[in-house]
Amino acid sequence: MAVLEAIALAKLYGSVPAVREVTFRLEPGQVLGYLGPNGSGKSTTVKVLTGLLQPTHGQVLFEGKDIQRDLVSYRKRLGYVPEEANLYPFLTGEEYLEMVGTLRALSRTRMKTKISSLLELFSLFPHRHVSLGSYSKGMRQRVLLIAALMDNPDVLVLDEPLSGLDVTSVLIIKNLIRALSARGKAVFYCSHILEVVEKLCSQLLILRNGQVIAYGSTEEVRQRIGQSSLEHIFLQLVEDKDVAQVANEIVDVVVSPS
Ligand SMILES: Nc1ncnc2c1ncn2[C@@H]1O[C@H](COP(=O)(O)OP(=O)(O)OP(=O)(O)O)[C@@H](O)[C@H]1O
Ligand SMILES: [Mg+2]
Repeated sequence: MAVLEAIALAKLYGSVPAVREVTFRLEPGQVLGYLGPNGSGKSTTVKVLTGLLQPTHGQVLFEGKDIQRDLVSYRKRLGYVPEEANLYPFLTGEEYLEMVGTLRALSRTRMKTKISSLLELFSLFPHRHVSLGSYSKGMRQRVLLIAALMDNPDVLVLDEPLSGLDVTSVLIIKNLIRALSARGKAVFYCSHILEVVEKLCSQLLILRNGQVIAYGSTEEVRQRIGQSSLEHIFLQLVEDKDVAQVANEIVDVVVSPS
């Protein structure tokens, strides 16, 4: 049974459609790669999936029930890493995580132990008393990941989770996503980085202008398109552009005398 399901989701900003007729199912243990170029509607979908925005049409179901009927219980089972974080700059990393734990009603002692262990594992323990305002981009991203994971979510919604992370952290997170899915967690992984998604995801959904242009298991999507590399699939489906030519045209403009 699907743990998370989108049925004919549509989101309009005013009269402009950002997401149209998006339908997918996510089962426990599956990692769904939600792919598309900039502005194709990925983050809008994420905001609808997490209940931050109401869909204009369609529904999001968690364990068969519309999330809008009980957002509080749904959020208790959800871990979310947003695309951009508004972290409180005056709180330290540890204080921020304690605030999240308190909002999630975790018991104080259990929360403290868990936060310390996760800070240590994400190499943030030495920085736990430093304010978030002076954290680097990658450090802030790791705090967001901890915040999303600390309440043992059943569904993880990740919007470009590797953004700003260094090589070691990227490897850890990729392995972490695999390990979480092996424990039955469902992961919605939103990205435009094909190389990562190709190796990590069991299902793929490709979006263009808010519409689904390919959806299925990674293998099915590959076979249907008849290309082995996802990069080729992506270029074929999404970008009707000669990328080398565009790059050369940009260089021409850059080097042209002003
Ligand atoms: N708050 C908003 N008000 C109006 N239009 C918006 C708003 N947020 C997004 N849009 C528009 O909706 C479309 C989809 O944006 P969205 O942020 O979902 O794309 P994305 O796939 O996440 O892109 P990226 O890869 O750059 O993160 C874009 O055309 C964008 O301009
Ligand atoms: Mg986005």
